[in-house]
Amino acid sequence: MTSRPKLFTGSAPGKVILFGEHAVVYGEPAIAVPLTSLRATATITAAENFSESLMIDAPGIAVQGRLDQLAPDDPLAAAILETMRVLNIYAAPGGTMCIQSTLPAAAGLGSSAAITIAIARALADCIGAELHANSAAQIASAVEHIHHGNSSGIDPTVIAHNSTLYFTKHKDPELISPHSSLKLVIAHSGTTGSTRAAVNAVRLLHNDNPARYSHIFAEIGALTASARQPLSTGQHAQLGQMLNANHKLLQAIGVSTQLLDILCAAALQAGAYGAKLTGAGTGGCMIALVDASCALNVQTALVTAGAKFASITALAPAS
Ligand code: MEV
Repeated sequence: MTSRPKLFTGSAPGKVILFGEHAVVYGEPAIAVPLTSLRATATITAAENFSESLMIDAPGIAVQGRLDQLAPDDPLAAAILETMRVLNIYAAPGGTMCIQSTLPAAAGLGSSAAITIAIARALADCIGAELHANSAAQIASAVEHIHHGNSSGIDPTVIAHNSTLYFTKHKDPELISPHSSLKLVIAHSGTTGSTRAAVNAVRLLHNDNPARYSHIFAEIGALTASARQPLSTGQHAQLGQMLNANHKLLQAIGVSTQLLDILCAAALQAGAYGAKLTGAGTGGCMIALVDASCALNVQTALVTAGAKFASITALAPAS
């Protein structure tokens, strides 16, 4: 009689930054929400014999091969090895790890941190261990650091906690509860943006003119701090103005693109309260804050203006 394969799984959501990207790298606060409708999943089909090697199958990012044949700094290998280090797993399980994600890569939605945390959770499931959110964030931050250079840790933290967070680098994240009436339309501009390249480009600008860029980061930080209250009370119009102001400041540090600007303008024209790029920029996604009554209009306007896709999502309250 053949026994059934043993399956172990882990999953993690994407994320959207509402306020504060880039400035957060320089110690300013940022607000991020988990994006539960788009997720990464890792499934381990364990071999009967634990001494077999672990095959990685990630069709979405064209990675297929044995773990021991991947370079140690390959993002998937790094995620597995870092998890093994943190959980004291001395040998990778034998079998196949299949990684799937509905998150577009390099689009500002936290795809890489979500994949790492899904992998970490699947490995924890495999050894029957509890993986605390702080440990999941720690694993993903270490992997992000290899691939994105000097990152703030916001993506791993919001994804690991699966809650809306008020986040400041090197401080404990604060859980916040956005008002239940708030809705976003998220649109992909169709081009990708490298977080590492965008963060490095901003760093060079800051090095050249620290006074100017520190001032912009402080303005972004002040906007983020003052967005907390309207976010929890659902003052859409005020929040929308703040999103627009944050987008202008992101334009000033050179991380918007012509299409992201066009999409933000199209969303406002169609009735959104406010719009901005989200994540590292230089491509990727933008968000528009909308009333339920105009969400479909805004979604259609974004696709007409050139978005690759636009989807409507509610902001989840703190879990
Ligand atoms: C990326 O989602 C957000 C950035 O601020 C980088 C970071 O904080 O690590 C651009």
